[in-house]
Amino acid sequence: MAAFDLDDTKGAQLESELGERYHHHKVDVSQLDRVETAVVAVEANHGPVRIVVNAAAVPAPAKLLSSRGPISMEVFDKGIKVNLYGPIHVMRSVVAGMAASDPNEDGERGVIINVASGAAYEGQVGQVAYSASKGALVSMTMPLFRELAIHGIRVMTVAPGAFDTPIYDHVPPALKEQLAAQCLFPKRMGRPEEFGLLIEEIVRNPMHNGRTIRLDAGMILGPS
Ligand SMILES: NC(=O)c1ccc[n+]([C@@H]2O[C@H](COP(=O)([O-])OP(=O)(O)OC[C@H]3O[C@@H](n4cnc5c(N)ncnc54)[C@H](O)[C@@H]3O)[C@@H](O)[C@H]2O)c1
Repeated sequence: MAAFDLDDTKGAQLESELGERYHHHKVDVSQLDRVETAVVAVEANHGPVRIVVNAAAVPAPAKLLSSRGPISMEVFDKGIKVNLYGPIHVMRSVVAGMAASDPNEDGERGVIINVASGAAYEGQVGQVAYSASKGALVSMTMPLFRELAIHGIRVMTVAPGAFDTPIYDHVPPALKEQLAAQCLFPKRMGRPEEFGLLIEEIVRNPMHNGRTIRLDAGMILGPS
């Protein structure tokens, strides 16, 4: 498995934990040239990419109008560049190799999974950039899977609710409790491995195609 992430410390940790199964590449997914170079290296080592999970993202919190004035376009751009351009950069870099690869007995060549968010549907105050980027991933699912079906490539999107990952490392425990309370059942945040189970199911089961699956214990967030 090859992972593109900015975080070298986490990458090294995972490499020592998983050994040969995991290769960290320090890549800023918002930079097309960095993604292209890394994909060429991955293809040279492992052959065409068959499974893509686009999960790198930043929260880019910002209100259209805050006490500091109108939204910073730097923050907005960063949210869109990482969360929306990032997946596009990865998809455009792998798709030619995937489409040219040998299909399995079902004609399938690969699967692309984009990670959106419940914020694509019920964005909260301060999520202008984040919701815009995640909503775009949900909307792109339809044209992408329709286009790529002819190549035997599936496209799915997953929209998680609240999962207890490092994204919440610096968030006060009270806020995490508040989020957990908004899950209908189970009344807790999701565990990373429960997210992984859905990714595995989508990869293994070829009948998953062209949809966005919400994974959120029935949580519907309020305005803020
Ligand atoms: N955890 C949740 O509750 C939750 C809810 C909804 C959606 N999501 C989505 O799930 C995905 C995974 O989130 P997570 O909770 O594991 O967050 P996380 O912060 O733990 O992981 C995000 C990763 O993206 C990397 N990253 C950030 N900018 C990058 C860039 N420019 N190039 C390459 N890597 C970059 C970070 O280093 C980090 O390792 C994200 O797309 C996130 O929006 C998470």
